[in-house]
Amino acid sequence: MAGPQKEIPSRQRSLLMKAARKAMKNAYAPFSHFKVGAAILSNRGKIFTGCNVENSSYGMTNCAERTAIFSAVAQSGPKLVIRAVAVATEQDVPCSPCGACRQVIYEFGPEAMIFFKSAKGWTEAPISDLLPEGFRLSE
Ligand code: THU
Repeated sequence: MAGPQKEIPSRQRSLLMKAARKAMKNAYAPFSHFKVGAAILSNRGKIFTGCNVENSSYGMTNCAERTAIFSAVAQSGPKLVIRAVAVATEQDVPCSPCGACRQVIYEFGPEAMIFFKSAKGWTEAPISDLLPEGFRLSE
């Protein structure tokens, strides 16, 4: 079960935001023109990034957060533990992770902190607040 959230030092948080902004520049978003970047911080202190990748068959679109997580698993293996996720958009437009991404974050980071801009401004929330009762097959 989720234990106490571990503070993310502000230096690491700004590095994570910077990485998310950089990844956003690679977004493939010709349909929505809504470019998103995400960066994840692993429990080993490594940062992995991703961007949204859209498709002519719209439903095949992959969000930035899931791209970052799948890329992290591909690069570092299945033992990935996510400590934090940062989401960036152009002009800092509000963008909270979608429901599908929340479930995928939860799989690898049930205690992860999420940094994103909500309608109320910059927000820092544990994934368990964004996704209560996330689904898990195993502990
Ligand atoms: N999108 C993300 O990449 N992350 C989010 O958290 C919300 C939405 C993308 C998907 C699609 O390419 C575009 O934003 C518009 O929905």
